[in-house]
Amino acid sequence: MDSHREPNLFRTEKLPPFVDCLPLLPFAKPEGTRRHGRKRVSCYRVPITEFTARVHRDMPPTTFWGYGASMPGPTIEVERGQEILVDWPNLLPSKHFLPIDHKLMGAERDQPEVRTVVHLHGAKAPPVSDGYPENWYTPGHTSVYHYPNDQEAALLWYHDHAMGINRLNILAGMLGLYIVRDDYERSLNLPSGAHEVPLVLTDRTFKEDGQLYYPVSQRPGGVWVPEFFGNTILLNGKILPFLEVTCGTYRFRLLNGSNGRFYRLALSDKARLVQIGTDQGLLSRPVDLTRLILAPGERADIVIDFSSHADQNILLTNDNRPIMQFRVAAGRAAPTWTPPAAFRPVSAIARSEAVETRRLTLDEIDTTLDDPMVHLLDGKRWHDPISEKPVLGSTEIWEFINTTDDTHPIHLHLVRFQILERQPFDVPAFVYDKKLVFTAPPVPPDENEAGWKDTVRASPGAVTRIIVRFEGFAGRYVWHCHILEHEDNEMMRPYEIVPG
Ligand code: C2O
Ligand code: CU
Ligand code: CU
Repeated sequence: MDSHREPNLFRTEKLPPFVDCLPLLPFAKPEGTRRHGRKRVSCYRVPITEFTARVHRDMPPTTFWGYGASMPGPTIEVERGQEILVDWPNLLPSKHFLPIDHKLMGAERDQPEVRTVVHLHGAKAPPVSDGYPENWYTPGHTSVYHYPNDQEAALLWYHDHAMGINRLNILAGMLGLYIVRDDYERSLNLPSGAHEVPLVLTDRTFKEDGQLYYPVSQRPGGVWVPEFFGNTILLNGKILPFLEVTCGTYRFRLLNGSNGRFYRLALSDKARLVQIGTDQGLLSRPVDLTRLILAPGERADIVIDFSSHADQNILLTNDNRPIMQFRVAAGRAAPTWTPPAAFRPVSAIARSEAVETRRLTLDEIDTTLDDPMVHLLDGKRWHDPISEKPVLGSTEIWEFINTTDDTHPIHLHLVRFQILERQPFDVPAFVYDKKLVFTAPPVPPDENEAGWKDTVRASPGAVTRIIVRFEGFAGRYVWHCHILEHEDNEMMRPYEIVPG
């Protein structure tokens, strides 16, 4: 047995705060057009490369693997209904710099170490372009994906999805934003240009030399850890950045791109936070918040009006600890934007439309000492036969029966859905007697979850019900927990939409 020595870590808590300005993410530009079927469509090329970046003024450069040459990668901005092609060449070295667990499904010793495949999270994309976890390719290869963008304005994000090493690839830096625009959103005259700021939240731990650290299990023979929480939070790839703002209204597009961390965000000085959109676009009305919870994979579209904070510094905090500073300029108030009372309605899908209700358990199985705990979906592993086969165009209710002590953010590819409710149940009665006994009435989703979602927090000890229309394409997709450590270790399942 090889005893594993922990490296010395970089003491990021000693770094001076607010010395770096928040990086504004680059935009990807189309390279030209290519033939797709009978049309010519815009084509982008986003190479996956190794590069270095400074995460703080006083830290040495850190090596990342990511899209383009930044972490997060370049933002792709598209118009609803305007299809594009993206070429995603893998130009990485052939050895991974993070610890692979060869016991995980798909990451066995006979598999190449460095494999990538890109998934556009939240996209209504055909199965061949969805980034199926087994469709990975090695350095020197590429995939050209087709995104129809036939969907409402929303903040999507692209990230790696390679079987068994997805958590390592995303931690290495493989993530970026993708913004869909539409006429309705434009008609609202939301803050734009310099007043629209994407904010990508990630957490990382650094070794003394400034390089990324990923822990390995202390159990004999084990490498996989059940969750990764970095000791340092980064915004757009910087530690404790600041942003100079005028005293007007800003729109922030937030993504939690962390492996396992949930954020509980708030502003200092009683500054107001108004959420206007969620994963799949605008809510039906703005929601005033004092605290915003964001699970891995979730997005939030928020507006902050700095006009009553001229010449002040406002902090963005997570669990009451500052993670970023807004420096509000002195002087006259810049134009402000007041949210309307309501946006386009999110019409509720009627329960009566559902042709099928699936009961799906979220389980945690503690096995033996050298084959540690595993999380499963409905008691099944990745390679078990496909059990969820909704008919194209049909509506179903999926009930996530969470028997574990964790909240699992459950994501379905291709579709958008609505959260119906969460209802507590008697876990022992369910686990030992197979009886589903509810202990309280169902609770409707929070106001800021009452829109179109693609990732839902399934609370422990509760049944979380969602209603989904399986629209778009027939074919094979996946659904999974978005805690990347869970996803890499069997908490992911294929599902298949069958033609009607
Ligand atoms: Cu962010 Cu399978 O997805
Ligand atoms: Cu997805
Ligand atoms: Cu999970």
